Amino acid sequence: MKNITLSRFLIEEQRDKNLIPADLRLLIEVVARACKAISIAIGKGGLADVLGGAGSDNVQGEAQKKLDVISNEILLEANEWGGHLAAMASEEMELPHPIPNRYPKGEYLLLFDPLDGSSNIDVNVSIGTIFSVLRCPEGAEANEQAFLQPGNQQLCAGYAVYGPTTLLVLTLGDGVNVFTLDREMGSFVLTQRNVRIPEDTKEFAINASNQRFWEPPVQRYIGEMVAGKEGPRGQDFNMRWVASMVADVHRILSRGGIFLYPLDSKTKAKGGKLRLMYEANPMALIVEQAGGKATDGHRRLLDIQPTGLHQRVPVILGSKNEVERVTAYHAG
Ligand code: AHG
Ligand code: MN
Ligand code: MN
Repeated sequence: MKNITLSRFLIEEQRDKNLIPADLRLLIEVVARACKAISIAIGKGGLADVLGGAGSDNVQGEAQKKLDVISNEILLEANEWGGHLAAMASEEMELPHPIPNRYPKGEYLLLFDPLDGSSNIDVNVSIGTIFSVLRCPEGAEANEQAFLQPGNQQLCAGYAVYGPTTLLVLTLGDGVNVFTLDREMGSFVLTQRNVRIPEDTKEFAINASNQRFWEPPVQRYIGEMVAGKEGPRGQDFNMRWVASMVADVHRILSRGGIFLYPLDSKTKAKGGKLRLMYEANPMALIVEQAGGKATDGHRRLLDIQPTGLHQRVPVILGSKNEVERVTAYHAG
């Protein structure tokens, strides 16, 4: 597996498996290049003017950090001119971003959370970028309606984690592969092929400060885990919560675990906390492609028909047997 760069990997997928057309390969390479640029900007930290608030709010009424805005700009600029996209949509923009008329248009739709884990930027904890690729319906205008496709229609999904190393995790619907940024070479190199999430786990991730707002099935599930050896599960569990979904999901991909941002009385009116189109769906595809499961407590996340670009959903994902258990508690 030595020195297979992302470019070589994609060319071989195209040539040997006929898995991706050339323009989708270009799209992925452009997104990867943008993630490199974001990684460099993040790496400068206090040496450059990239930390702190931007002084603005996004569509969801959340205060934007400078790096939220910078990362969004990097992704927009990188993807505008290549001719591979019909439009882009982002957490940071209310409406889809059309491709300017001076550039050719392609058939794909790109969605992203340019910077995930914003609260961790200024404290030097892992953050990331999440992206999802859909096909623009034939003959359709590339407006918001064109984006409203269930996650099972994704052609590709991935995330970059900016941690001690910068990683790119990618699925083309044929397993999950991990690439590590070689900073000297400036290229992503394949470091893990066909990653699998263990079916069982002793590790859970949830923001426990919301406990009093949770619904009964989640109260029961987490309560049983916290009860440990003496409780109904008869074993001890451990808890981890980074508060960057990318970092929490990456831990689960690496050694198993379950991640929950469930429906609670605080976020119920909005439908949940995390966004379906550019957080839940791409992560659900990756997790399923690695042998895990992803539901909203009732339904498979990938089968939800979206009704809005910024729609929120409850998210439960990770090791298969644990996701099945807590989903069954919701049904019971
Ligand atoms: P973003 O920074 O893109 O708004 O996303 C943050 C999300 C997600 O990454 C994380 O799991 C969750 O918010 C953390 O929420 P709490 O602060 O409520 O724990
Ligand atoms: Mn996010
Ligand atoms: Mn974000």
